[in-house]
Amino acid sequence: MTRCRIVSVVFTLWCLCDSVFGGSLLQHTSVSLDGKWIVSNSNGSLTFTAEVPGCVHTDLYRHGLIQDPYFRFNDLSHGWISLDNWTYTTTLSVTSEFRTKQEVLLVFDGVDTVSSVWLNGVNVGDTDNMFRRYGFSVKDHLKDGDNVLKVSFLSPVLYAAERRRHSSYRVPPECPPDVQKGVCHVNFIRKAQCSFSWDWGPSFPTMGLWKEVRLEAFDVLQLLQVSAVPSYNSSLSQWSVQVELFVDAVQLTNCQITVSVPELDSEQTFHTQFVPGKTKNVFVLNIEKSDQVKLWWPHTHGRQPFYVLSVRGLQDKLLLLDTRSKVYFRTVELVQEPIPGSPGLSFYFRINNKPIFLKGSNWIPAHSFQNQVSPALVRNLLQSAVDVNMNALRVWGGGVYEQDLFYSVCDELGIMIWQDFMFACAMYPTEEDFIETVREEVVQQVTRLKSHPSIIIWSGNNENEAALATDWFDIPVSERPVYLKDYVTLYVNNIRKIVQMEDQSRPFLVSSPTNGAESEQEGWVAADPYDTHYGDTHFYSYLSDCWDWTTFPRTRFASEYGFQSWPSFSTLQPVSVADDWSYNSDFVSHRQHHQDGNQQMLEQAALHFHLPNSTDPLKRFTDTIYITQVMQAQCIKTQTEFYRRSQTEIIEGKGQTMGALYWQLNDIWQAPSWSSIEFGGKWKMLHYFAQNFFAAVLPVAFEAADTLWVYAVSDLSQDLKLTAVVAVYSWAQFDPVCSLKSDALLVPGGSAVVIFKQPVAALLAGCGGCTRATCFLTFHLEDSSGQQGPTNHHFLCSPKDAAGLQRPNITAKVQQSDASITVSLHTDSVAPFVWLDVGNIPGRFSCNGFLMVSRNMTVRFEAWRPTSATEVSKSLTVLSLTDVY
Ligand SMILES: *[C@@H]1O[C@H](CO)[C@@H](O)[C@H](O)[C@H]1NC(C)=O
Ligand SMILES: *[C@@H]1O[C@H](CO)[C@@H](O)[C@H](O)[C@H]1NC(C)=O
Ligand SMILES: *[C@@H]1O[C@H](CO)[C@@H](O)[C@H](O)[C@H]1NC(C)=O
Ligand SMILES: *[C@@H]1O[C@H](CO)[C@@H](O)[C@H](O)[C@H]1NC(C)=O
Ligand SMILES: *[C@@H]1O[C@H](CO)[C@@H](O)[C@H](O)[C@H]1NC(C)=O
Ligand SMILES: *[C@@H]1O[C@H](CO)[C@@H](O)[C@H](O)[C@H]1NC(C)=O
Repeated sequence: MTRCRIVSVVFTLWCLCDSVFGGSLLQHTSVSLDGKWIVSNSNGSLTFTAEVPGCVHTDLYRHGLIQDPYFRFNDLSHGWISLDNWTYTTTLSVTSEFRTKQEVLLVFDGVDTVSSVWLNGVNVGDTDNMFRRYGFSVKDHLKDGDNVLKVSFLSPVLYAAERRRHSSYRVPPECPPDVQKGVCHVNFIRKAQCSFSWDWGPSFPTMGLWKEVRLEAFDVLQLLQVSAVPSYNSSLSQWSVQVELFVDAVQLTNCQITVSVPELDSEQTFHTQFVPGKTKNVFVLNIEKSDQVKLWWPHTHGRQPFYVLSVRGLQDKLLLLDTRSKVYFRTVELVQEPIPGSPGLSFYFRINNKPIFLKGSNWIPAHSFQNQVSPALVRNLLQSAVDVNMNALRVWGGGVYEQDLFYSVCDELGIMIWQDFMFACAMYPTEEDFIETVREEVVQQVTRLKSHPSIIIWSGNNENEAALATDWFDIPVSERPVYLKDYVTLYVNNIRKIVQMEDQSRPFLVSSPTNGAESEQEGWVAADPYDTHYGDTHFYSYLSDCWDWTTFPRTRFASEYGFQSWPSFSTLQPVSVADDWSYNSDFVSHRQHHQDGNQQMLEQAALHFHLPNSTDPLKRFTDTIYITQVMQAQCIKTQTEFYRRSQTEIIEGKGQTMGALYWQLNDIWQAPSWSSIEFGGKWKMLHYFAQNFFAAVLPVAFEAADTLWVYAVSDLSQDLKLTAVVAVYSWAQFDPVCSLKSDALLVPGGSAVVIFKQPVAALLAGCGGCTRATCFLTFHLEDSSGQQGPTNHHFLCSPKDAAGLQRPNITAKVQQSDASITVSLHTDSVAPFVWLDVGNIPGRFSCNGFLMVSRNMTVRFEAWRPTSATEVSKSLTVLSLTDVY
């Protein structure tokens, strides 16, 4: 048994608002209990040291007691871990001075999930919710010398099944679909819902102390949390900041609180009384120089400045609290109002009074074992999002409320967050203790997160309104009212009410997708939550031709849409063996958690591409990975461009689309999924495409009734006077066959307008000898200062039918030039979907997956660890479309 000594006695303020700024609180002592614990299973056959924060799975792996959980089929063979019960034990000693404090709390920032906590043989508390922080009063149970602290975990799988057994009616879905290879009844436990398996993730029902543990001792009071939420009164043109101090006081305490934002010459002093127990104390600071406040803007719309807010509390001359935190000023509204000439309501976000099109994706947990999600990983993923011009992410409701760092980085980078509460794709129980633990979860999470300007909306759940409305779970009509009532109880009467009490500074939606205000009118569950005239939409259709934009819903806001692809060979290789490297292997079907997913990818790809048919099995496998990525990138490009060009128009009552968040940004393990970034951070072709299709200024082409249309889409604040340049190329040669130019057109900031239009037949006839099969188009926008936005392409036939397309001979030269590595490419003929891969060297290219219409091209490689031109050169492979068949 290890002995957990007092590692440090520090005077820190427990302030989760921002770790950048510390604070101090007199007479407040904290002892960290992180570090080594002992963990053992129920029959004692396994006993080993545990890391805290951590979980049983990662400790077992660290000690060599199990193989890498992500290797091959280990998610199945490791299933026994979460069926056992595990006990964490540590021994600690505290000074007598520490114990003479008025209050001593044993604090767990996160316990995963169901446990009882024992100090020296006394049960001091129980836990049942991974998303809550727990503080147990332990002063009377601490003694001199060694104290034994035990946390006994009950198998989450047994617990969930047990709760189901005690439920008087079924709460569907009872189990995940077989293809997910998961375990049942996850909706009965307040734990990451995807930890029992998902259609992109494995079943690893974790157990452990997943966040920090410590003892806190104090005499007068302890500050649990500070929040600072600005609001703007437009009739007074006045900013104010609502500062809340969440305080745990031992006794009635008179205090003089001074709140200030020095940089804005604002300071106010309040005389207050903290009453004993946990209380929320609100102070409103009016900002003096309101007209000088620098606003926080989403990425590409402006900067992300912050101010330092300071709070000091004095009792007589005694400093009781002293803390500083960041405060960012911005306003957000979700606008749902009638649109002239259209049924339904608008649905868009206005930030600082400016309507903003949300461009981005959906975020899922970055690892099955949250303790493996390092700060570097979080930063890398979020940086990858803004690097491709995203300004928004939706933190999806089947994972976790992310760590503080995640939101701080989003604040810094200007990423808007659509924050779900953690309920997904299920009905939920509403027993009293379940509601009670959810209520506490919601209060704590809203309090923790509301100071972050990045969060622009709270949303009650993922797809549960749709699940009920469109009857995913075969609920008999006679039983429907029970589930409807449960739905309203949980999300409306509890979660919504709490959020409205705790945070009026941003909108709340009950679900996604939803009809928003219209769903509310219909009793919170609309007849058709996918109605494109209202709210947001999720849309998936794997087999209809994704190059045909008419298959997409012209929605007000696309919060989910996607297509799967396989991650690169270098990502799969460490978790597989040679036997697995074929599209028909057991491994390839095992990692696919979406019914018929592998087949759907090939069917969709086959609509436009020759499928790989190499006689070399390994090449055929890697070529197939490539073709799934080409398919995915091109599908999401087409769909996203449709949403972006639909931002201004209303057609048959539909349109004014103001958001495109594709499913999904990141991966939880090495498997096929809808992600654009692979597990480990490598960009798929889709992610490179996003850089273009999310560009601030973008030309979009499509065909309707055999006419080619080009739209100019602009997210800029200022107007541009743009010309569209359309170049017609032959597959068989480099130089354009001909080139056309539109008239200059005023393109207002934040709009999508038609800039070029011509029947395809006329266009080809005017362009010597071109046919749909022999030619394709590239196009861009320009103004007097040059090209604006990326060059885009439009195919007039499927590449599999392209006439004259040859197999190019592409050569690459890698060079070190100054700090960066460049790859100079040379091709002898037109090459579509040119793909550079450097295996497991982490990093990204400046662009990739591109169409080469000229002999030479230079691409930069940005490495994420030190490397050399030689190493990159050795690993580099170059593939283009004709190389796979
Ligand atoms: C103890 O539990 C482990 C893990 O569940 C199991 O494999 C083992 O057979 C058990 N040993 C005994 C003696 O019951
Ligand atoms: C785990 O604890 C539960 C509840 O006490 C018990 O029913 C179950 O048998 C235990 N599991 C094991 C493997 O001991
Ligand atoms: C703005 O201030 C005015 C005058 O004090 C007040 O009547 C009004 O309610 C305030 N508006 C908001 C949104 O707080
Ligand atoms: C490809 O091009 C390189 C450089 O131009 C040349 O050396 C090589 O022989 C060519 N390969 C083929 C198969 O044509
Ligand atoms: C293109 O690259 C080739 C081979 O690297 C080189 O010889 C040639 O000069 C380049 N042409 C142009 C126009 O840059
Ligand atoms: C692969 O498919 C292409 C295009 O259909 C065909 O021309 C080629 O002969 C096939 N190769 C093999 C090895 O079957």
